[in-house]
Amino acid sequence: MTYGKFPQTRMRRQRQAAWTRRMVAETELTTADLILPLFVHESAKSELIKSMPGVARHSVRAIVEIAKKAAELGIPAIALFPVVPENLKSLDGKEAYNSENLICRTIREVRATCKDSIGIIADVALDPYTTHGHDGLLEGDKVVNDKTVEILRKQAKALAVAGADIIAPSDMMDGRVGAIREALDEAGFCDVMILSYAAKYASSFYGPFREAVGSSAALASNKPKRTDKQTYQMDPRNSDEAIREVALDIEEGADMVMVKPGLPYLDIIRRVRDEFKIHVFAYQVSGEYSMIRAAADAGYIDYHQAMMESLIAMKRAGAIGIFTYGALEAAEMIRHAQSEVCSYSG
Ligand code: PBG
Repeated sequence: MTYGKFPQTRMRRQRQAAWTRRMVAETELTTADLILPLFVHESAKSELIKSMPGVARHSVRAIVEIAKKAAELGIPAIALFPVVPENLKSLDGKEAYNSENLICRTIREVRATCKDSIGIIADVALDPYTTHGHDGLLEGDKVVNDKTVEILRKQAKALAVAGADIIAPSDMMDGRVGAIREALDEAGFCDVMILSYAAKYASSFYGPFREAVGSSAALASNKPKRTDKQTYQMDPRNSDEAIREVALDIEEGADMVMVKPGLPYLDIIRRVRDEFKIHVFAYQVSGEYSMIRAAADAGYIDYHQAMMESLIAMKRAGAIGIFTYGALEAAEMIRHAQSEVCSYSG
């Protein structure tokens, strides 16, 4: 007795051995797909981040070493985020465009040591620099758009002068991509790329990141004034709106775009890729990382397998690259799998 409507068709034939599965795999994750986000702080010692097990804030010196290691593993770029000392935070976040700020110094150090063996992506947004933790200037409980964009232009220029290769606006203000492109071009940085966080959702999965850079306490201190980012980040219920956001950013001069978070928004990644044929990055954000880590630490899932499966899912959805806090481990796994000539799933 054979079962199935078409007994001659057996989908399982091609799954019978590791080599057949490898032969017909439609998606492959390589080390070139991984972008490593890093937190830099002023202290000389590394400090573990409680809500992100396995991730730490590092000194400038340590960041340079990690960047070297990432380059050796084949990771094409790092993305830098600063932990700004409280006394340098202000209402208008002006430390963001201080050419001697932590991020600018880090960019220069990484560049001096790593030369062009690794790309440097610098975030443009004010949240690490403001006392209220918002990505823009706050007037009353309103995050104001155009005055913020003025500051973002200065921030982008300072980062380009320091040597950033890619400017990544993550603030979600309207019109910022065009304004930043103009500022960069005026300053002679026409080769500096813009990777815009075009479809960035107002997500609870950013929680651990805000703890990492110290903006969660700042946001909480606004009570009863505005503590959420829903007036500028996107509503998770919307998909067509993401297409409009991406269309605008491309028109304004974005070279690449980002969908963020990653796993809960695979449909958006796919739509953007299909609609625009533009290079779209996915960000496996802090909360996604920590969920996998916490479940693994509790013994419920296997960290490495769950991590690789998540990353593969984003690649399959259409991402050209993925920002992940697990980039180093993932790159090591890919290297290992290659040397064993077997896929991660065996
Ligand atoms: C802020 C910024 C955030 C992240 C990257 N840039 C947090 C936020 O919008 O509140 C989140 C990254 C993560 O959660 O890993 N401009």
